[in-house]
Amino acid sequence: MSEEAVKANPTQGGNGWEPKILAFCCNWCSYAGADLAGVSRFQYPPTVKILRVMCSSRVEPSFILKALNDGADGVLIAGCHIGDCHYIDGNRNAEIRINNTKKALAKLGFDKRLRLEWISASEGLRFSEVIRDFTEEIKKLGQNPVKTKIEPQINADERRLNSSAFKHAADVQGSEDK
Ligand code: FES
Repeated sequence: MSEEAVKANPTQGGNGWEPKILAFCCNWCSYAGADLAGVSRFQYPPTVKILRVMCSSRVEPSFILKALNDGADGVLIAGCHIGDCHYIDGNRNAEIRINNTKKALAKLGFDKRLRLEWISASEGLRFSEVIRDFTEEIKKLGQNPVKTKIEPQINADERRLNSSAFKHAADVQGSEDK
């Protein structure tokens, strides 16, 4: 990324910022695919934290909202290919659920931070490609605004409270010393 682009938006690349992606991987396919990527030494950025779930349908919208609210820059849900789900229709249900969640997130401008992918146990290379691609997309979007706008405000409020509590304690101590 050019220096001008980084100056224009410091949350995009530069400044040592790397996206944080939470990946919910189904136990039977995608988690094994991630494992294969590791064993096969397919390179992908260390931007992803993997959380194993038994099926992609286990991921509730509230999990996604919590991850984004807690500052994840992106959330990936990875499951078995359609027709391969170990719980028959789990991934079809997940697809409907994630699409609905995406529609809801679109109203907040967060929809591109959520991605659904089908990755089988034999697709280690594909796993690494998906992570690389999603990382690049998130870099273009920049940091999760929860982190850049809301968190600094919370920290500033916390600092204000702490300093007024400190001042109050110092006043009390001063009046006791007299
Ligand atoms: S078991 Fe993998 S998506 Fe359902």
